[in-house]
Amino acid sequence: MALPLFERLGGFAPVSKIVLLFYHKVEESEDLAEYFEDVEMGRLIDHQTKFIASLMGGPASYDDATLQRIHEPLEISEQAFDDMAELLQETLEDFDCSPEDVATVMHEFRRRRALVVHP
Ligand code: HEM
Repeated sequence: MALPLFERLGGFAPVSKIVLLFYHKVEESEDLAEYFEDVEMGRLIDHQTKFIASLMGGPASYDDATLQRIHEPLEISEQAFDDMAELLQETLEDFDCSPEDVATVMHEFRRRRALVVHP
């Protein structure tokens, strides 16, 4: 089996660059930024790095029950989830990830929709 994307990219340091670009895109999106207004970006970037790493086949840090508990009070809409998916895909493409790798990560992201969306 092929090496997971996380390993091929070179681990946490390169992945955190991807996360940083992703969160700049999120901050620039008016509809998404409001969800993150009260969250300290450094802390969130740290957490999201672990999360993205787990989508890429790296060490998994968050189980489904935890993800659901964290997002339940945030009232995240279907639209916000789709907007975030689009920005994540753009980010991976900016980093020249192969189409197969992008598809794998996006599949893992979308698989968690029901845990995150609570309109
Ligand atoms: C597959 C989709 C998603 C996953 C796996 C995910 C994962 C995570 C993780 C791991 C954290 C860190 C929690 C912690 O502090 O330990 C987090 C926090 C957060 N997520 Fe998500 N997220 C997803 C989608 C979204 C979407 C679509 C939004 C908003 C549009 C969102 C908004 C937030 C916010 C605001 C926090 C910070 C909560 C806080 O610390 O108060 N997430 N998410």
